[in-house]
Formats: sequence, C-alpha cells, structure tokens
Amino acid sequence: MHWINFPLLTIMIWSGLRIYWADTRDPYGFGIGLIGWHWFDFLPDAVNETLGLDRKLARGMAFHFTFGWFFALNGIAYGIYLWRTGLWRRLAPGRKALGDALIVVAHDLYLGRLIKRPLPEQGQYNAAQRITYALVLLMGLVALLTGFAIYKPTGLGLLTTLFGGYEVARTIHFFVTIGFIAFFVIHVLQVARSGWRNFYSMVTGFEKVDDPTTALPAEVGAVPDASVDLATYGGRTRRSVLTGVVAAAGAAFGWRWVQNRPLSNRIPDVLRQGHEFNEALWRPLSANRTAPTFARSASSMMRVNGRIGLESPIRLEGWQMTVLGPDGSELGTHTLDDIRALPKVEFTAEHKCVEGWSHIVTWGGARFSDLAALYADELSSGASSERPSDFVSLETPDGEYYVGIDIESMLNPQMLLAYELQGEPLTEEHGAPLRLATPNKYGIKCLKRIGTVQFTNDQPTDYWFERGYDWYAQL
Ligand code: HEM
Repeated sequence: MHWINFPLLTIMIWSGLRIYWADTRDPYGFGIGLIGWHWFDFLPDAVNETLGLDRKLARGMAFHFTFGWFFALNGIAYGIYLWRTGLWRRLAPGRKALGDALIVVAHDLYLGRLIKRPLPEQGQYNAAQRITYALVLLMGLVALLTGFAIYKPTGLGLLTTLFGGYEVARTIHFFVTIGFIAFFVIHVLQVARSGWRNFYSMVTGFEKVDDPTTALPAEVGAVPDASVDLATYGGRTRRSVLTGVVAAAGAAFGWRWVQNRPLSNRIPDVLRQGHEFNEALWRPLSANRTAPTFARSASSMMRVNGRIGLESPIRLEGWQMTVLGPDGSELGTHTLDDIRALPKVEFTAEHKCVEGWSHIVTWGGARFSDLAALYADELSSGASSERPSDFVSLETPDGEYYVGIDIESMLNPQMLLAYELQGEPLTEEHGAPLRLATPNKYGIKCLKRIGTVQFTNDQPTDYWFERGYDWYAQL
C-alpha cells in the first residue's frame, strides 16, 4: 500500500500546484505587515515552465477532487494495515527520539566530533527517520482534513471552523504541500548520499545482502517477527521490489490512460464523472446549508476578477430583467425598483474563487426565493409541488456569460439578487445593476448583470462547465 501512496501523493501535489499557480497574487501573507507587497513567489513561473506544469486550473481541480478520494481511501487502508500488522511500532518515535534525532542529524552534517556523542543504537529506522516518517503520516492526515475543510466549507462547516476558518485551513493545506516537497527533496538527497543499499532497505524494509539466505531484517539485532524464517527474507525483498516496479508501472499507465480519455467539456470523461460523483455525494449535505457569516467590520471591497458579459454597452437606466418559464415563454419583467421593493437582506460572508483566493464582503439585495414566490402560481405545475422547477438558468443581457444552478441552491436563503456591495450600489464592473451573490458556491456562479432568468427542468449549460469546471461548484 505504501507503494500506492507515492504516486497518489505525486498526483495530489502536481494537481494542487496547478491550483496554486492559478493565483500567485496571494503569497500567504508573506510580507504583509512588513512592506505590504508581494515579495515572495514560492514557485515562480520559471519553475512552472521548467516542470511543464501549465496553468490548467480546471484540469488541476478535476484531478485533485477525483484523486482526493483515492488518496483518502488508500491512506485509511494504509493506517489500518500499519495498525493490524504492528508495523507502526517500527515507525513510531520513542520517548528519547527527539534527542537521538538531533545527534543523528549532527552526524549527518559531519558534526559528530563536535558534539562528542556517538550515534545512538538504532533499529530499522534511526530516530530522525522515525520522526520524519511519523510526521509524513501526520501531514497526510492534515492534508486530507484541511483539503476537505476547504473543499466544503459550508457542507463541512464544523471541520473548517475546527481549523480556524477557510483561510487558515487553506494556508495549512499549502504549507503541508511544501512539507511534502521538502521531504521528497531531502529523501532523494539522502539516498544519493547513502547509496543503493540504503535505498533498498528503506523502501523494502529489509537489508540488502549478497547472499539472501543470510539476509537479516534491517532492524539489526531485533527480528520483528520471530515466526518468520530468516531464509525467506531474500525472497521477500525481491517480491517487495517487484511490487514497487509493478506499482510504478501501473501508476504511469493509469496516468496516461486518464490523460488520453475522450474529453467531456474539456476534461477527461473519467474526471467529469469524478465531479458528478462528488455532486451526488455532497448535494444532500450542502444545498440547504448556510455559510458562516461575519461582523460587517470584517468586510472590505472585493477586487474585480473578470468582465465576461459586461463588455457590451447597455443603458443601465433602461435595464430590465426578464423571467422565463420552462417552455421559454415570458412570465414577467422587473426593473431595479421592483427588486428593491422585495424584502431587503444584508449579510457579510466569504466570497471564494476557484483560483484559490477568498474575500469577506457585505452583500445587500433580495432573496431569489422571494422573486420565485411571485411566480408560484405560474410555476405550480413545476417539478414538484414544493419547488417551481428543477433548475434555474441565468444569463447576462448580451448572452456572453451564463450559469446553471440547481433549484435547492437557488432557494437557499443566502442566494441573493444583489444590488449592493459594501453598502453601496453595485458599480458597473461588479455587475450593476443586479447580480447573483452566494457564499455557498464558487464565484464562477455569481453571474454579474443579470439579463434573463429562466426556470427549467433540464439541467442548463454553464459558461465555466463548458470550460472544464464542475457544474455544481457548491462549497
Ligand atoms: C497530500 C494531499 C494533498 C496535497 C499535497 C494537496 C495540495 C494542494 C495545493 C498545493 C493546493 C493549492 C493551494 C492554494 O492555491 O491555495 C491545493 C488546493 C486545494 N486542495 Fe489540496 N492537496 C491534497 C489533498 C487534498 C484533498 C484530499 C482534498 C479534498 C477534497 C483537497 C482539496 C483542496 C481544495 C478544495 C483546494 C483549493 C481549491 C481552490 O480553492 O480552487 N486537497 N491542494
């Protein structure tokens, strides 16, 4: 199982870095409060280009959220395996481990003579290795938990809160990745230093000897399992290496297989199915939940991130929103005054972008559910007696930007037809006169400048879905 951990970890790091690269404007607060300027790029473009990791965010997310499950399941299986076989004892650092580890590190750095302490006796793994391996296992768990905390900050709100909120969880998630990369690099350097024998015992758990019948467990002087005949160790080391080769070949083959699958809206079809699996799983958990809200004082003006659908000149004074029924017939039109006449709602919440950044903002507007209620009679023959239709499709007046949203999410009390941001009327670039705002979906669903709203029973298409993103995009 630990052979499978590595390819999965590599996929998670690789896809995670694609997400990270989508927005390197936020350097995790490095420099903030010092000079208030982005002075540190953890992975500058030069590294990105050298490794051939382009900025395909949608593909990165699709890989991340599909393979996240394999990573989770394999991690759980590995934990059970370590526990059941008692192998965790070989990895768990003892009480003296920290002191011993410092001595080992000093010897590794050729400072042994200086500290005048001999290398402590070691089992299969020395104290520094035990601490590192235990840390890596812990990091895997933290990556998993913070991953889910930022994947579903509304659906799994409690987990996100336990980590100190979305931004803290996201920062921990990223630093764990840096930890994994550091582990890989140091490991490779150590292997280069210690040679093939050490690498062999490190990955197989057995010392490499020339005569297999005399092979000893690498834990010199302490046979971990007395029932195992020593003569079989030679065979086991070979089997273990063979398993590794098969696992690596399988991973490479699987990787190519996924990459070469037919595309479904710009991502391999199996990854699209991964998105659909996640949607089916999370929908019952998250569509009706409300996202955490904050004090108004925590909010500030949000940056503008994209102008699709806002380019065509329109006369804002004459703006009207058209509402269509499932058969395409016009049910009504609304001016901004009509929307303002509906009960006003204001809340402060975190707006989250697929690029990885978030911002706490205060929205003001009318609940979409109050607009839908105006059409209750016309739509009463809809999908069921409790809801007007299965989906809602919204479009900008020029038709350039369009989103499709499930009706449960549209009727969520935090789904706003927003006309105010930070207590001020929306500016043109933020989607004046009326936009969609919800903290429960990624910002790609918060259509600016609504032109048409259609209730429909067929799942509508969506601008970013067509470009490889998750149709549901629920948080
Ligand atoms: C060892 C495993 C993992 C590694 C190394 C990893 C790494 C990363 C990295 C580097 C990022 C980009 C950080 C940023 O730009 O802020 C990221 C983002 C993310 N990861 Fe992971 N991750 C792992 C596992 C998971 C798991 C199991 C999940 C759960 C589904 C998950 C969910 C997420 C989410 C939701 C994002 C942010 C996406 C966005 O905001 O656009 N990760 N991950």
